[in-house]
Amino acid sequence: MRLCQVEELAEGEARGFDPLDEGQDSVFVVRRGGDLVAYRDICPHYGSTALPWRKDAYLDAGGKDIICSAHGARFAIDTGLCTAGPCLGESLIPVPLQLSDEGEVLADLNSNNSVGVVK
Ligand code: FES
Repeated sequence: MRLCQVEELAEGEARGFDPLDEGQDSVFVVRRGGDLVAYRDICPHYGSTALPWRKDAYLDAGGKDIICSAHGARFAIDTGLCTAGPCLGESLIPVPLQLSDEGEVLADLNSNNSVGVVK
């Protein structure tokens, strides 16, 4: 499923997408160090809560970690593992990505078995 063109994702930033037209973002992509990583926009603490308090606010102020605005859980960008907070040791659900020859960022929403990193 197409999310966007790769050049629409700024280095060091995150962006949410609503690929299924559900009326709210269900997937987000982080671009860091040239890599793209994607996760479902669901915090493992409660299992149904979206992470950001406003559109695209998935990262902490320094852009070092993914954060959940509800209770402050922190997640490693490259693995999705919770490193601090109420769901310590649990992980975000990865969304595998592919980059098309035309620079389209494509998400496989039917799979959650591999880390969603594109290098
Ligand atoms: S719902 Fe994310 S930390 Fe509680």
